[in-house]
Amino acid sequence: MEEKTILEIQGLRSCFFTEKGVVPAVNGVDIKIPQGKIVGLVGESGCGKSMTARSIMGLLRYPGRVAGGSIRFNGVDLTTLKERELRRICGKEISMIFQEPMTSLNPVLRVGRQVRETLLVHDASLSKEEARNRVIEMFRRVGIPEPEKRYDCYPHELSGGLRQRVMIAMAMVCKPKLLIADEPTTALDVTIEAQILRLMKELRDETGMSVLIITHNLGVVAEICDQVYVMYAGQIMEQAETFELFDHTAHPYTQGLLGSIPRIGQNTDRLYTIPGVVPNLLHLPEGCPFSTRCAYATDRCRTQKVPLYTVGPEHQARCFRCEEEKA
Ligand SMILES: Nc1ncnc2c1ncn2[C@@H]1O[C@H](COP(=O)(O)OP(=O)(O)OP(=O)(O)O)[C@@H](O)[C@H]1O
Ligand SMILES: [Mg+2]
Repeated sequence: MEEKTILEIQGLRSCFFTEKGVVPAVNGVDIKIPQGKIVGLVGESGCGKSMTARSIMGLLRYPGRVAGGSIRFNGVDLTTLKERELRRICGKEISMIFQEPMTSLNPVLRVGRQVRETLLVHDASLSKEEARNRVIEMFRRVGIPEPEKRYDCYPHELSGGLRQRVMIAMAMVCKPKLLIADEPTTALDVTIEAQILRLMKELRDETGMSVLIITHNLGVVAEICDQVYVMYAGQIMEQAETFELFDHTAHPYTQGLLGSIPRIGQNTDRLYTIPGVVPNLLHLPEGCPFSTRCAYATDRCRTQKVPLYTVGPEHQARCFRCEEEKA
């Protein structure tokens, strides 16, 4: 049976238009998210992961904006919608857990009430009592202890970890068709992290929700993702089903990332040990952006654009070495 695609990003280019020049933070990205699948987007800090997520939601910060490509959700190109239509779809069918959640809760409203209001906006047929029960149930599922008591707390009365769980509950309580989760568990301890990842899988199984999960942590990817996209300097360097990616890693950049796989439970912030630094997006090499750090780089890599080569079933990598291997 043909898999249904819920989100299809094609040729996405999102740039910051600064005085120093145009910064192509997302530089021609294609991503396909099938219905009911959990797709990971990984890469080092600054490679454009959050920018990709924010482009989907129409939430780029000035001076950033989408400069090209399309983002089709259930066939509708989100980049062509008016602000109001986009808000309606994003409010109802796409939820996002933000990387910096502390800014997203209203400080003067009790947290239970905030989540309940979000739920009631989605489902007006619920009574307040039913909505309250659903919120408390979701608080329990995301690992908030004594959820009835926490329901009546203000954000400042909760720890950072609890606020993060409130945000996760808010994103999931409305049963979105697509959940975009930007580093959702980075701030949480490992037991809670495992619980949240399990919950995402449960909700996927219960409701057919699709997930785009952004993470530094390849342990998280191994645990939860069906498919993975590896991003570097605004481009997708490699993509495959998770097992295929780990077993038959094709791109030197991915190999570098995998060089130090953090296990779930190892909550480090700096994970990678690839030598060298990410290139300045204003002065990208003409060829492969990774060529400045790659042990295998040749003159051709430095000067010629690299296409995506198919290296296995549903497996592509943007590296000239893959062409040689095929030949
Ligand atoms: N206002 C700005 N002007 C110019 N460039 C910017 C601006 N804000 C961000 N950038 C650049 O955009 C790029 C993409 O940033 P993005 O937040 O998407 O990275 P990320 O992959 O989410 O990183 P992290 O893992 O640290 O969250 C970065 O290289 C950053 O330097
Ligand atoms: Mg980010």
